Amino acid sequence: MKKINVGVIGLGYAGKQHLDAYLKNPAVEVLMVSDASAETLAAVCRQHQLEGNRDYREIIKHPKIDLISICTPDYLHCEQAVCAALAGKHVLCEKPLATSLAECEKILAAVRQKKVKFLTGQVLRFTPLFLSLKKIVDSGAVGKPFFAESDYIHDIRPFLHGWRVNPQTAGDMILGGGCHPIDLLRWIVGEVREVYAATNKLALADAPFPADHMLISLKFADGAVGKVQISVGCRRPYALNLGVYGTKGTLINNRLFTENIPALEDFINLPLPTKAEYQYYDREIDELLKAIEEDREPAVNAADGAETVAVCLAAIESAKKNQPVAVKKFPGKIT
Ligand SMILES: NC(=O)c1ccc[n+]([C@@H]2O[C@H](COP(=O)([O-])OP(=O)(O)OC[C@H]3O[C@@H](n4cnc5c(N)ncnc54)[C@H](O)[C@@H]3O)[C@@H](O)[C@H]2O)c1
Repeated sequence: MKKINVGVIGLGYAGKQHLDAYLKNPAVEVLMVSDASAETLAAVCRQHQLEGNRDYREIIKHPKIDLISICTPDYLHCEQAVCAALAGKHVLCEKPLATSLAECEKILAAVRQKKVKFLTGQVLRFTPLFLSLKKIVDSGAVGKPFFAESDYIHDIRPFLHGWRVNPQTAGDMILGGGCHPIDLLRWIVGEVREVYAATNKLALADAPFPADHMLISLKFADGAVGKVQISVGCRRPYALNLGVYGTKGTLINNRLFTENIPALEDFINLPLPTKAEYQYYDREIDELLKAIEEDREPAVNAADGAETVAVCLAAIESAKKNQPVAVKKFPGKIT
């Protein structure tokens, strides 16, 4: 089978993870990498003996490149994803898909126009724990969900450098972090129709972004309600918790209680790892490669990435206005 030729744009934390996963994958060949920092680019090119260019457009123009990973700061995703899709390249774009609804629309339009395969890097959908939890909910083991909650708990201080500390580029940490739990809830429980959120900025008072903590109450389309906590200044180890309460049982991370098993008096501990820190970029890449091979939509396509951004942005707006906000719907999915 013909190898898929790859380019990686942005070689910081996320870009290096993508690159490592590509370099281990026998189905792909990395032809070029790009980073705006000459030093970073030179170090990566030297380490892996790769061709590099500081101008990302050289990757997009490269006639042999089929697939491009976009691992640059959030505010650059739209420009680079649109360019890549319009050049007919398949795209793996880091989360969050973009920083505004207008940017999401532009990406969707380019993907639809060129019919390229586009995967939004909501990598937690490839984590064994969450894949299993989705299967358990889909199996009916907890019945119909009526409440679901998820927490993204992070101490982002070690990551506060470069674009994340520049007020022009930092954006909203609630979008960058919140897209993880919100995407998981959309995937496992269903679409969110309305949010009501409150924020504060007490843990990282000097940070250049507007809030470091957010509590969101959600209304799902099918009547369930939910809660999301997003925290980027927590003095505690990282956690990504997920709980689903249904008419027949309850699932809290790897603990399941279900009336479907008679005489059960306590939660069963499922043999699933609960640490969500390890991110399965290799599986995310495999899914995109399979979608290209089978000519089908990948899991977490651009429309999915856009819907998750829409919930996050509605929550940010809600906190600003101190009132509930309806989540904007995108006119039609890709498929
Ligand atoms: N999936 C996850 O859980 C996860 C984790 C971390 C970061 N991310 C996402 O990955 C993206 C990058 O974050 P990061 O933590 O790797 O940031 P980073 O600061 O470590 O790396 C960003 C890199 O992009 C480079 N860059 C900036 N402008 C560029 C341009 N125009 N062309 C080429 N390179 C350019 C920078 O020089 C830097 O090396 C963000 O969108 C972030 O939200 C996702």
